[in-house]
Amino acid sequence: MIEIKKMESIHVAQVAALEKLCFSEPWSENSVAGELNNPLSLWLVAVDGETLAGYVGSQSVMGETDMMNIAVDPDHRRQGVAAALIDALVKQLKANGNHCLTLEVRASNAAAIRLYEKLGFAPIGRRPNYYRSPREDALILRKEWQL
Ligand SMILES: CC(C)(COP(=O)(O)OP(=O)(O)OC[C@H]1O[C@@H](n2cnc3c(N)ncnc32)[C@H](O)[C@@H]1OP(=O)(O)O)[C@@H](O)C(=O)NCCC(=O)NCCS
Repeated sequence: MIEIKKMESIHVAQVAALEKLCFSEPWSENSVAGELNNPLSLWLVAVDGETLAGYVGSQSVMGETDMMNIAVDPDHRRQGVAAALIDALVKQLKANGNHCLTLEVRASNAAAIRLYEKLGFAPIGRRPNYYRSPREDALILRKEWQL
């Protein structure tokens, strides 16, 4: 059974490994570990027993939150893990007094864009050539809610 909880130090190595698997410019294990001590950061993990099924990382400033990354282990995809992580993140951000969640996504990442649209994110802009390896525009999406 999948359980969603706050990231702790025991999760960091698996989070960094999944980052490496999913992204061309992954966060290092040290950078992920640093988020545990960052008072602006909230990272959640989805765990299936001892196995990491997915994670989402965020940072909040003055009531506005950026989602920095989200990934789900390939064996756990299309089972609602990413949706559950984002729902849990939004619930926690609301409880902490934040009012919106903004993210960037590669313009070609149809799976992620579909996920975000389904969860109520709306397009608010585009950053040309935001990504490297390969170079690509980012779409900026945002979800807002009433406190
Ligand atoms: C994008 C990603 C996080 C989705 O994770 P997931 O746990 O498989 O997503 P969910 O099961 O919660 O999907 C929820 C909805 O999103 C959409 N969706 C998710 N993956 C999809 C895909 N491959 N194709 C089309 N729609 C997809 C669907 O609407 C899905 O609902 P459905 O399964 O009932 O049709 C995952 O594919 C991943 O880790 N990709 C690599 C990393 C990445 O691109 N991260 C995003 C960076 S911005």
